[in-house]
Amino acid sequence: MSATRALILLVAGIFLGSLTSFIAAGAMQQRHAVPKGTMALMQYHYTQARRDASSNTCDAPAALHHVGRLRMLAEDANPIFAAIGYADATFERRREAFLAEVDKGIAAGADCAGIGTALKQINDACAACHHETR
Ligand code: HEC
Repeated sequence: MSATRALILLVAGIFLGSLTSFIAAGAMQQRHAVPKGTMALMQYHYTQARRDASSNTCDAPAALHHVGRLRMLAEDANPIFAAIGYADATFERRREAFLAEVDKGIAAGADCAGIGTALKQINDACAACHHETR
């Protein structure tokens, strides 16, 4: 084999190798886009609910709305997280515990103090799931 030919093969090999890894990295990123998006929205609605339920800026209907969004996100979580390997009994147990705390917030109705109290437990339920699953 001539030196030129070896060089061409080497360059082609490097090119194909990096192309394959780009494709693989892109697929990985896409796979994680919806779980990451779900959690970004968890963070968003939790923060909004906190702000709306705080005593200085109390807007109870808005706070209640954001707590309702937390419920919807958790309801949809199973197939989304199963796609990246979080479909075990621990995840399900933590998801149900989270839903139970969210439901206490919803049961508080349009009441800033009640929602504020529930949000502390909701935050603990976020942390509990992260601690055990991530
Ligand atoms: C039932 C389990 C569960 C609950 C409940 C949960 N999370 Fe998560 N969260 C996860 C998992 C699993 C990941 C890691 C996702 C990954 O690997 O891409 C995560 C990741 C995150 C991330 C990082 C996302 C990123 O871009 O890497 C944030 C922020 C987050 N969660 C916020 C929250 C907030 C706020 C709550 C509560 C309101 C919450 N989560 C409730 C399981 C949960």
